[in-house]
Amino acid sequence: MEFNVRGDKGNKEAEERKKRFIEAQQRKKRLKEKMEKIKNIITVMSGKGGVGKSTVSVNLAVALSEEGYNVGLLDLDLHGPNVVRMLGVKEKLFVDEGEIVPAQYSDNLRVISMAFLLDDGVPVIWRGAIKTTAIEQFLADVRWGELDFLVIDLPPGTGDEALTLYQTVSVDGAVIVTTPQIVALDDVRRAIRFVLEMKTAPLSSSKDTKILGIVENMSYFRCPNGDIVHPFGEGGADRLSVEYEIPVLGKIPMDPKALELMDEGKPPVSFYRGTEFEKAFRDIVGNLLERLEG
Ligand SMILES: Nc1ncnc2c1ncn2[C@@H]1O[C@H](COP(=O)(O)OP(=O)(O)OP(=O)(O)O)[C@@H](O)[C@H]1O
Ligand SMILES: [Mg+2]
Repeated sequence: MEFNVRGDKGNKEAEERKKRFIEAQQRKKRLKEKMEKIKNIITVMSGKGGVGKSTVSVNLAVALSEEGYNVGLLDLDLHGPNVVRMLGVKEKLFVDEGEIVPAQYSDNLRVISMAFLLDDGVPVIWRGAIKTTAIEQFLADVRWGELDFLVIDLPPGTGDEALTLYQTVSVDGAVIVTTPQIVALDDVRRAIRFVLEMKTAPLSSSKDTKILGIVENMSYFRCPNGDIVHPFGEGGADRLSVEYEIPVLGKIPMDPKALELMDEGKPPVSFYRGTEFEKAFRDIVGNLLERLEG
């Protein structure tokens, strides 16, 4: 009797284990098929919070799409998803034949974020394993289609989200965002080291990954009289560039009007034309494409 009870339990466990295994195998297959259609996977990272990662992700994705590329924007900041508000996308996600269909900002820019799945102000209370599954689903179960670029906005630091991503897909390159100040640099170095480690880490899928370059955000402020001031100090990105031999992709000015536009869901790169802010992103795109070619 004892034996039977344990035997049944054992069978049940084995069945569940098999089910989980088959599901994981199927997801892996779907992931592989999806990723084969994406030419360049680019992460936007920083060791530090609030330096402008989401601002850079959104404006970079919009600028690339305006140059005619097919672009996907994946918001992997599961706890603080901002890109949907910054893009001003009102449309919701829907599911078709078991696949999540991303929301469209334009014909050639699609976006996925936790923000679509949450009501305003509702926190995501998840830890490691659940986050890993969510991230895998955002990659394997989303109908991304053929993309030239998948731009991925990461939360600050090098935690679960970044690690899961680098272990799940082959990331082509990282854009590192910093402000010029020294305290930011300390944390940003950690993000740089993380990407460099992913080239050799045993479980990493990103052996060919590289750091595309550094973006210095809030680099300077232009006063109404035309003078330039540096509220966050000077030379941060240049210092990192020398230290790690990686290029500076661009320097973005601090501009209160840009902040206002981001809050209104109007990415400045297309709603604030002819400005230094826009020009900085055009330069970043040019330099980034050059780095990817090389
Ligand atoms: N160049 C800029 N000029 C003015 N405001 C900016 C600029 N860059 C970013 N901001 C503003 O600073 C705030 C933080 O930017 P953002 O959300 O992009 O940073 P983040 O690094 O993604 O933050 P988090 O670590 O919380 O994800 C936002 O309100 C954004 O609109
Ligand atoms: Mg952010």
